Amino acid sequence: MMQTSEPRLPAVERFIGRMRELCANEPDEAARWSAAADALKALLADPGLHEHARTWPISPAKLGLEGKHANLLFYEDPDYGFVINGLIKRPEAKTTVHDHGKSWTLYGVVDGAETVLRFERTDGAQPGDLPTHAPVEQTDSGEVTTGHVDCIAPWEIHAEYNGTGRTVAVIVRSQKSGTFVQNIFHDHGNTVEQYDGPEQIPYHLG
Ligand SMILES: [Fe+2]
Repeated sequence: MMQTSEPRLPAVERFIGRMRELCANEPDEAARWSAAADALKALLADPGLHEHARTWPISPAKLGLEGKHANLLFYEDPDYGFVINGLIKRPEAKTTVHDHGKSWTLYGVVDGAETVLRFERTDGAQPGDLPTHAPVEQTDSGEVTTGHVDCIAPWEIHAEYNGTGRTVAVIVRSQKSGTFVQNIFHDHGNTVEQYDGPEQIPYHLG
């Protein structure tokens, strides 16, 4: 867990409080993350967050490498394990086609516009495994912009493609990347790669 004595943004403290309340009182995971998405939308509307986001760094060495984007790590909850990340993607950046393993994810756009895509496996396999090969096909895509929150359920296959501008996002995960295995689905030979998720770079949000 990150240790800091510095105060965080008030809107971030409110969001953390709401997340902790949901973790304590909402046992149904889909309902918990749906309510969390509403709380994240409120955070995304906060002017203080937008002001702060102007200081978030973009690191050429760590962001955009083969689509495996590093995350800023703002917060890890000591009791429930959820984390708050930041992500800045440069213009024209494309993520891999991937899932987030067994974790839940909220992807909230602070600034910018991008295309969010969904894919499904066409081999009939149930979600939840770590295959070496798996064909996928795109099933959906949509343009999203500032204020949008995408809720990504466990094993849901997706990608994000930037347009001509950069995008800045706040990501909320049910557990920190590195504590679960993700799949990356390549279009060459339908091969699937497993990895531990984006590198986590501690950064103070306040
Ligand atoms: Fe993702």
